[in-house]
Amino acid sequence: MNTLVVFYSLEGNTKIVADILAEELDSDCIELKPDKEIPKGGFTKFFWGGKSILFHEKPNLLNDLPDIDEYDTIFIGTPIWASSYTPPIASFLEKVSIKGKKLALFACHAGGGAEKCFEKLKSALSDNTIIGTISFTDPAKEEKEKIKAQLKHWLHEIT
Ligand SMILES: Cc1cc2nc3c(=O)[nH]c(=O)nc-3n(C[C@H](O)[C@H](O)[C@H](O)COP(=O)(O)O)c2cc1C
Repeated sequence: MNTLVVFYSLEGNTKIVADILAEELDSDCIELKPDKEIPKGGFTKFFWGGKSILFHEKPNLLNDLPDIDEYDTIFIGTPIWASSYTPPIASFLEKVSIKGKKLALFACHAGGGAEKCFEKLKSALSDNTIIGTISFTDPAKEEKEKIKAQLKHWLHEIT
């Protein structure tokens, strides 16, 4: 099984999950970087992030895109913004044609929106098989070992 973990993280929560997954899976891992990042911290991030969701923005990515044919399983991770996945993920899905893969979806939020976000991702990725989904409430505030244990359990279930 050749596996890729691809994710975006503005403030590090989704990165915590992605890094554990990539380590446990011994997989390649890509952190998506938009050419213009919205401000971190403070309240303005909700304005700029909310606007980017409202207008379905798809920022340019600074990353070299992977040869997706090399992978049969892809883990896709995003923070939840306004109950949706983030613009850099939308850019990635537009640039890279993902079809016939096994997909696992992970998301971080501050309290809600995971089901809606996963439904949107599933509908954008309908030509694939979703093998699992998992979400976390701001994992940066949790013990890393607790997150790791949850992820190990999930991986055991889905792989
Ligand atoms: C623009 C914006 C919109 C957000 N919308 C939601 C939301 O709809 N539901 C929620 O629970 N958290 C929401 N959050 C909080 C983040 O999803 C949450 O803090 C997440 O863990 C951040 O992940 P990151 O550190 O990887 O960027 C939002 C944050 C931002 C910046």
